[in-house]
Amino acid sequence: MDTVPGGAGHLPPYPERVRLYDQAFAADPARTYARLREYGEAVPVELAPGVPATLIVGYEAALQVLRDPMTFPKDPREWQQDVPHDCPVLPLMMYRPNCMYTDDPLHTRLRRAVTHALDHIDSSSLREQVGDIAEELIAGFSAAGEADLLADFARPLPLLLFTRLLGCPPALSERLARGFKGIFDGVDAEKANAELTQGVAELIALKRRLPGQDLTSRMLADPVGLSDEEALHQVLLLMGAGAEPEQNLIANGVHLLLTSEKMADDVWGGNLLIEDALDELLWTDPPIANFGFTYPRRDVEFRGTVLPAHQPVVIGFSAANTDPHSMADARVGNRAHLAWGAGSHLCPAKRPALLIATAAIEKLLDGLPGLTPAFPGGEATWRPGPFHRALTALPVRFTPTAAGPRRHR
Ligand code: HEM
Repeated sequence: MDTVPGGAGHLPPYPERVRLYDQAFAADPARTYARLREYGEAVPVELAPGVPATLIVGYEAALQVLRDPMTFPKDPREWQQDVPHDCPVLPLMMYRPNCMYTDDPLHTRLRRAVTHALDHIDSSSLREQVGDIAEELIAGFSAAGEADLLADFARPLPLLLFTRLLGCPPALSERLARGFKGIFDGVDAEKANAELTQGVAELIALKRRLPGQDLTSRMLADPVGLSDEEALHQVLLLMGAGAEPEQNLIANGVHLLLTSEKMADDVWGGNLLIEDALDELLWTDPPIANFGFTYPRRDVEFRGTVLPAHQPVVIGFSAANTDPHSMADARVGNRAHLAWGAGSHLCPAKRPALLIATAAIEKLLDGLPGLTPAFPGGEATWRPGPFHRALTALPVRFTPTAAGPRRHR
């Protein structure tokens, strides 16, 4: 068997870089993480063919990286110079002038505008808006007795919600949602990207003229004084960072409740809140499994290995959370998991993100009596990819209700 040359420094001989993009990894990531841990806390992986990286699989090691932005900066520009344009992970990893890909002092400035805007979200109004959108979506399929809850519910819900929270008028919302769907489906992605960018630019022009009580207006009004271009990139980030992980938290949460008898009994029996069931999922199988890229500026000696300069270091949030040496065993009621990241790039939306998923799932359970999974072959299948934990579909059956869902009380 080949061994990994250089790169991973002083690791014991390591069979070959694990491909985080193939079907075998997607089918059983926990098995891969257990195997990787045998080689240390920072192990060589491949993110796409010919794209090496180091995955951090230890909890303490992950915290050390996340809390040390001087040694572990986020700006990927040096790395991406040598990456082919058609590399499949480039669109997600390439530099954008938003708070996720920048370092101080720019990061603090951009993040301030984003967090101040998100801090204004009122929980009860958010719950109501999620409920309205969920009811509309459920009404679209409740008479059929079957649905794909990923395509028909979990995917559209966050997009519809975020275009509303950003203050988009209906016609603009449709264009933005279409642009996002085009990028996601990979159908004429360039045209979809252009439609999305143009739409967001129009939204910003509109909110400069006519500010409202929405996320876009709040970011524009922030004393940090975002330029139009900066505002455009923070809006795109909020939509992108909000849509994919949120849809996966909703779908994976429903999947957990439909496939774990214990979890379902505890929720139906009133012993476990949906929010706590989701927190369990955020410990064991978070929707953003591997992320938090950083690119050391020089070779870094790190816990018995060397992290090569300008090569991505990726935080294995899922592997770190389930690290047997961490406190994960004592996790009941404990939210010290890393599913929202940690340090200066900690997810600024963790409170609303959890509330959105909780409210959406409550509506589903309320509106679809007799909900059961209907996977062809009996088992869920997972979408390959190094970063997400995402179902390919969530087919279900339920008792048809022609009148649509009941209103949640
Ligand atoms: C289930 C849902 C979500 C999960 C699991 C999640 C997780 C994360 C994680 C792990 C990070 C850190 C990334 C890093 O270190 O590079 C992050 C950052 C971020 N998230 Fe979330 N997120 C979720 C939902 C959302 C939503 C709904 C929004 C927006 C409305 C959002 C906005 C952001 C932003 C702006 C950042 C970048 C912060 C910075 O770099 O300073 N996230 N998120």
